Amino acid sequence: MTKKEELLSKLDHKKLPQHIAIIMDGNGRWAKKRGLPRSAGHLAGVKTVRRIVRTSSNIGIKFLTVYAFSTENWKRPKNEVSIIMSLFKIYLKKEISTFNKNDVRLNVIGNIGDLSDGLRKIIDNALEKTSANRGLRFTLAINYGSREEIINAVKNIVNDVERGIISRDINENVISRYLYTSDLPDPDLLIRTSGEMRISNFLLWQLSYAEIWVTDTYWPDFEQTEYMKAILDYQNRQRRFGKHNG
Ligand code: IPE
Ligand code: IPE
Ligand code: MG
Repeated sequence: MTKKEELLSKLDHKKLPQHIAIIMDGNGRWAKKRGLPRSAGHLAGVKTVRRIVRTSSNIGIKFLTVYAFSTENWKRPKNEVSIIMSLFKIYLKKEISTFNKNDVRLNVIGNIGDLSDGLRKIIDNALEKTSANRGLRFTLAINYGSREEIINAVKNIVNDVERGIISRDINENVISRYLYTSDLPDPDLLIRTSGEMRISNFLLWQLSYAEIWVTDTYWPDFEQTEYMKAILDYQNRQRRFGKHNG
């Protein structure tokens, strides 16, 4: 048995996390370590995305959400930003047939309105072409920032209260419904690669009770076996949601 098969056989398919969220980090450091430009790291990172989407789909994960570009990432040098945007275009064009083959339904969250017309069109096309798929719901967070998402939600709630569309009785469900993730369950497991112990403005509201798993591995090196390890570790956690340890 290979290591992968061994880990796979240990997975409890009845206790899979329903929703896995990933902060894909370390592309730049991966490239630097090899004396390559940061763009080479981003390119290698795309391969890992392909791998992880396929694995998630194969093991029966229902929701996978990956953080691909934050509202703060615009502060990077112009040429790095433009390379990342080009990679989104290439990936989202090329990947449609694979999504369809594997029954993967694409979803995109973030401030999409501020992306270029070209990229927006490609996103819309990919969303439409995969909309009938019923397997893995794969969400890409592009130009995503949790604080911005919450600000938008608050503005829309205020607006709808003023117009009498909803009542003043704001509760957790109302807030969740006004976020970009309104049709997704909260993540059960958050994975971050490259050893950084922070959330970096990702899904602040939604991650309230997620189990966190961090690895030192850089994103381009993140393999299926390690992904399985993260899921196995999750399956051995005791989730309490504030209740006593009984
Ligand atoms: C993650 O890798 C990809 C994006 C944030 C777009 P980084 O580019 O942040 O890589 P490091 O953290 O500099 O190594
Ligand atoms: C978080 O990574 C954003 C994405 C993975 C898209 P960063 O590399 O931008 O985060 P910080 O700057 O280390 O917090
Ligand atoms: Mg980083």
